[in-house]
Amino acid sequence: AEDGYELWLRYHPLAAQQAQYDRSRASQLVADAATPTRAAARAELLRGLRGLLGAAPPLSDTVTRSGAIIAGTTASSPLIAELHLDTSKLGKEGYVIRSVTLHGHAAIAIVGNDDIGVLYGSFHFLRLLQTGQPLDHLAITEVPRVKLRVLDHWDNLNGSVERGYAGTSIWDWWKLPDWVSPRYTDYARANASIGINGVVLNNVNADALILTPAYLQKAAALAAVFRPYGIHVYLSVRFSAPIEIGGLKTADPLDPEVQRWWRQKTDEIYKLMPDFGGFLVKANSEGQPGPQDYKRTHADGANLFADVLAPHGGVVMWRAFVYSQSSADDRAKQAYSEFKPLDGRFHANVLLQVKNGPIDFQPREPFSPLFGAMPKTPLMMEFQITKEYLGFATHLVYLGPLYEEVLSSDTMAQGKGSTVATVIDGSLDGHALSGMAGIANIGTDRDWCGSDFNQANWYVFGRLAWNPALSTRAIAEEWIRMTFSNDEAFVKPVVDMMMGSREAAVDYMTPLGLAHLMGPGHHYGPAPWDTSLPRADWRPPYYHRADHQGIGFDRTRTGSDAADQYAPPIAASFNDVKQTPETLLLWFHHVPWDYRMRSGHTLWYELVAHYTQGVTDVKRMRETWQHLDGYIDADRYRKTAAFLSIQEREAQWWRDACIAYFQQMSGLPLPPGFAPPQ
Ligand code: GCU
Repeated sequence: AEDGYELWLRYHPLAAQQAQYDRSRASQLVADAATPTRAAARAELLRGLRGLLGAAPPLSDTVTRSGAIIAGTTASSPLIAELHLDTSKLGKEGYVIRSVTLHGHAAIAIVGNDDIGVLYGSFHFLRLLQTGQPLDHLAITEVPRVKLRVLDHWDNLNGSVERGYAGTSIWDWWKLPDWVSPRYTDYARANASIGINGVVLNNVNADALILTPAYLQKAAALAAVFRPYGIHVYLSVRFSAPIEIGGLKTADPLDPEVQRWWRQKTDEIYKLMPDFGGFLVKANSEGQPGPQDYKRTHADGANLFADVLAPHGGVVMWRAFVYSQSSADDRAKQAYSEFKPLDGRFHANVLLQVKNGPIDFQPREPFSPLFGAMPKTPLMMEFQITKEYLGFATHLVYLGPLYEEVLSSDTMAQGKGSTVATVIDGSLDGHALSGMAGIANIGTDRDWCGSDFNQANWYVFGRLAWNPALSTRAIAEEWIRMTFSNDEAFVKPVVDMMMGSREAAVDYMTPLGLAHLMGPGHHYGPAPWDTSLPRADWRPPYYHRADHQGIGFDRTRTGSDAADQYAPPIAASFNDVKQTPETLLLWFHHVPWDYRMRSGHTLWYELVAHYTQGVTDVKRMRETWQHLDGYIDADRYRKTAAFLSIQEREAQWWRDACIAYFQQMSGLPLPPGFAPPQ
């Protein structure tokens, strides 16, 4: 049965004509398996070519016929050395794929400086076949633009996954380290195929037990599986661990005993995992312990870890996701207020990990004002891949456009062109250390991600982390071809469906800059009326501020003044209701219900129109899919069809509930054309 387990590494037979062409260009394989990484590369090539072409090409020590594939490094392969390729700019992870002539035969060389480049290049080569690309005149050079490309698992030690909608944790802590599931290898293959080189194993709401010897052994067993695939293990640590598992009375970062404890713990970790990546820390956020418990700053806290990790080459990923219920300040402002003054105070191996928007992974937010505001600190992007606020497992929402919108936003921090992508890849401020993290959507479901289309979000995250400038439309197309079919009649409508899906979700959930209308706590479905949560900043009407007069959060100078956290030209436009993009109108402005939109319609009209459009779009998505029956296997076809029906029903639920609620506030009748049929 087709259960989605293979992800995009689905090496099923290609159409006859293409297979014949590819076979002539992959007629023999010259690749050694002398190291675990090169062995993984060779095994993947054999596996992929066998699946795609019907039979694996014969292995050979040298090139004896036209159509040979040669994979390796200059240092490991005399044949490759003969090519005199310039690999000086490839770094450790880059690679070239080149059409060459060797010993009189046409061949394709897959070359890295380092073994990991060979593995990445092998996956890329297979992708060319999977997506039906020509294999002649190849001259591909790839170097990752971002150094740390990391999946953050919010997996708990009891097997549950915070905000996970794809089953339970794939880490089988009970059986590790003695039983190492083969699934971990498939996980590593999938990650390596898109260039992910780091994995945080456990939830940011961390359990101190992860640092006990028993769990470190388990983590080390996973690290051993991941190592050949270029993936480093990181751990989320609990700031108060020295108290909880170390028997100390304090976790004060300036206390010498505390520092000694962390140093010893870190040394212990590196004994087990010499290539350990470092720590991810959520501190003084949503009730987690942190340096402020001891009247120390976030920099004091981060530097504590930085100093014990530095001798081993590890990094600290310190999260900027902080806000306090005791603060009277707008939640959207708090991370910036807290961290901006600390710019320049972090040690060299600290990255500040910032969520894409100032609040919390909403369907749409402006980019976080921290991007561009801390030039002396490497800022790491934190995207959410799991769809906490976007319909969990079933709603089809391709996140590529969301990521692309954020990355291409211009912070104007150093004039035009200071995009978030240039902050993240380190180029704007000249940081060698750079990173992008994605909160994983992976669990024990056979399809890994809770739905086949959610796999695309894992995929697009990895591809963008490798190169934030890639087009997410092109990535969607590539993913569809690998995952489903190369048939144009299938590919084209599905790309369009995916590309429109995020805007559809914005429309039926939180149009025009609205945020956080989801049911409190679980965040599924609409509940803009629900005031049951204890914290004012966790419940309506904090975010929408709808009343009889109007709707929206005034974040201009007459309100919370969050707009002024942006660079002056951006701040000026967000402060001006006429210049603010209407997609963010109610994020920055409180406007009356009869406010005139650019369309000439009132705000009330447009709000109802957007909610209705969202439902119409999902209906179209469902109909598009209906026309594609027969292009792919019945199992995956049916599952997506069922999920789209759920999504359509729930889009309608969102629309009806939100409009009914806001109508109670506005007191206005539904605009003509939107009233239900009598
Ligand atoms: C959100 C999410 C929490 C998570 C938090 C975080 O608030 O709902 O489950 O712990 O983000 O990113 O730390």
